[in-house]
Amino acid sequence: MTLCDMAVEVLTTADGRAKTALSRAHAARWFAARAAGTLPPIGQATPPMQPARPDQPELLDPRQMPKRKPGSPQGRIALLHAVAHIELNAVDLHWDIIARFAHIPMPPGFYDDWVKAADEESKHFNLMSDCLEAEGSFYGALPAHAGMWRAAEDTAEDLHARLAVVPMVLEARGLDVTPGMIALFQKVGATQAVEALETIYGEEVAHVAYGSKWFHFLCGRDNADPKPVFHDLVRKHFHGFLKPPFNEEKRAEAGLPPDFYWPLTEGAAD
Ligand SMILES: [Fe+2]
Ligand SMILES: [Fe+2]
Repeated sequence: MTLCDMAVEVLTTADGRAKTALSRAHAARWFAARAAGTLPPIGQATPPMQPARPDQPELLDPRQMPKRKPGSPQGRIALLHAVAHIELNAVDLHWDIIARFAHIPMPPGFYDDWVKAADEESKHFNLMSDCLEAEGSFYGALPAHAGMWRAAEDTAEDLHARLAVVPMVLEARGLDVTPGMIALFQKVGATQAVEALETIYGEEVAHVAYGSKWFHFLCGRDNADPKPVFHDLVRKHFHGFLKPPFNEEKRAEAGLPPDFYWPLTEGAAD
């Protein structure tokens, strides 16, 4: 099996737990081969434009999503559900970047990074599903955001743009908002959710760093200055402004300096 075959198998599996189980099994296969000093074939694939998804949750326009108080028990379940939905999308996003851009020659480390990220997102989805189930709910019980795959569609033709928008904008946003979520669950002594979100927070820094690393690599290969390329691509492919406050410390750790994101905020002077 080529790495692209593995990616397409994950992308075409609908059920969340089945998708993540397959994703983790394929990642284990990849890393066993790499540890044995081999490089499995990357192959070629035509990944689906939309990954397979379970019948539930119902996907709604964000404006139609029911509003719940963040401090209430229902609000906390809704938050865990929203994070589970993000994690399931992230599993597909990381396998999609592998399969969709396989025609562009990249060093083996590029695949190592995204397989590792996909494996971690699979773990994150399972952790969030476990938390929901411990609360008597489950992934699929509530409606979820319909627009999640849009960034993938908007950047399907351009690897630079995919790296700029997905890890370097969307996943970086996760670094900004996760500490507040952790605090919210800490306040009510929800240990399981706190531990799960801390795992997610710790591992997401590396996903942003992979994005920055390979974005800089591609720009360097083109002899292009990464910063203006990043600004142009985000303005073209990401809808809206970046929202402060930013987690400047974790962004720095992930290789995202302030002059990359501040110029993309509302009202920033060019
Ligand atoms: Fe994640
Ligand atoms: Fe991630």
